[in-house]
Amino acid sequence: MIFRTAQESDAEGIASVLQDLFDAGKRRKPCSAEFVLGHYISHPDSIRCTLAGDQSGHILGFQSLRHAVVDNPYDVAVGWGIIGTHIRPSAARRGVGRGLFAQTLDAAHGFDLTFIDATIGSKNAEGLAYYEAMGFREYRQLEDAVSKVYQLPS
Ligand SMILES: CC(C)(COP(=O)(O)OP(=O)(O)OC[C@H]1O[C@@H](n2cnc3c(N)ncnc32)[C@H](O)[C@@H]1OP(=O)(O)O)[C@@H](O)C(=O)NCCC(=O)NCCS
Repeated sequence: MIFRTAQESDAEGIASVLQDLFDAGKRRKPCSAEFVLGHYISHPDSIRCTLAGDQSGHILGFQSLRHAVVDNPYDVAVGWGIIGTHIRPSAARRGVGRGLFAQTLDAAHGFDLTFIDATIGSKNAEGLAYYEAMGFREYRQLEDAVSKVYQLPS
């Protein structure tokens, strides 16, 4: 598996990961390359968007780490990180998410983050289990979602 920072030229490949999740009924939000650029790769508050690929360059998934700024749309405490993870269903449960989180933690250390928020749909059992396994713990409940926090060692 290869991990690297996503570039603008990866937008189509990442969009196809989102499309596969949509087709599998695991996503409802947009899946276009334009959305990927605006939300992940080129977002002004992005700390790092890391992708995982196989030896042939096929994108298996990606993880976004953003900085929570004033008035962020997720109502996350200012200064925290905000994480999002998307793995192609055909590559699930093979350690892609675990490998991505090691990369994201590296970026979080480099950015001097102390806390990272993960907000997950309350019915998303695999998402909840994944973040729990990565060391995130619940700190708030929203209407249809649960927020978990990861605390980096100081
Ligand atoms: C949730 C998701 C990110 C997990 O990624 P993944 O690459 O399959 O995860 P990994 O294989 O690295 O699993 C790491 C650990 O997470 C937990 N986990 C992952 N998927 C799980 C599942 N379906 N059921 C139970 N636990 C699970 C396990 O503890 C696993 O360790 P193990 O395989 O040694 O038991 C992926 O399934 C996904 O993208 N789902 C759709 C989008 C989503 O829900 N994103 C996150 C919430 S917004």
